[in-house]
Amino acid sequence: MNLVILGAPGSGKGTQAVRLAERFNLRHISSGNLLRAEVASGTLLGKQVAGVMKKGKLVPDEAVLKVVSEVLTDEETTRLGGWILDGYPRTADQAEALEDVLSRNREAVEAVILLQVAADVLVPRLTNRDRADDTPETVRKRLEVYDREIEPLLDFYEQRYDVHRVDGSKPIEEVTEDIAGLVDVYDLS
Ligand code: AP5
Repeated sequence: MNLVILGAPGSGKGTQAVRLAERFNLRHISSGNLLRAEVASGTLLGKQVAGVMKKGKLVPDEAVLKVVSEVLTDEETTRLGGWILDGYPRTADQAEALEDVLSRNREAVEAVILLQVAADVLVPRLTNRDRADDTPETVRKRLEVYDREIEPLLDFYEQRYDVHRVDGSKPIEEVTEDIAGLVDVYDLS
């Protein structure tokens, strides 16, 4: 099963991706985690993207595609036979680039989940956390970028796949059950 999970910063993409990956034996691929690992290790790519991430802007497409596609095609992902993408793609251009990588690999997205959460719920979730890019100014920028990119990205996916909208403002366990229910109903596993 290959899933893409979309949603605003703080909508719970990472939280749900971890739970779903465990439940359905999928590789959790988080673009944000992969980029933060590059920054923490001080790689050249990490040095190139650190400043952009700190400002809450999007890192260049080539950089994020590189880290994501390496994991998408590695041995562990092949062994598990399925993945859940969290934080990638974020723009219609990235979604198109992902389609290219997948088709070369004879794979495809099987379902797209959109976590919906009102903005007034997102901000306290993020600012109560302790991540370097959770300052009020950076959160504001991340939300602005999301608002700008989400409609073209949804248009791209809605022309190709079912986009399942899930209420991400419910308690964590309920959101997981709602997504797992979709997996059963649509026989995605
Ligand atoms: P990334 O790490 O992807 O950050 P994000 O999209 O801003 O999302 P978050 O990780 O903040 O939120 P989330 O939706 O995963 O929620 P979470 O589960 O953590 O990206 C960071 C940066 O990297 C970007 O700004 C950009 O610079 C760069 N980047 C990454 N991908 C890129 C790409 N594709 N292209 C270009 N640049 C890219 O939950 C948040 C909090 O809420 C947690 O404390 C959690 O416990 C809590 N919570 C979650 N669910 C619930 C719930 N149901 N009820 C109550 N609390 C909840």
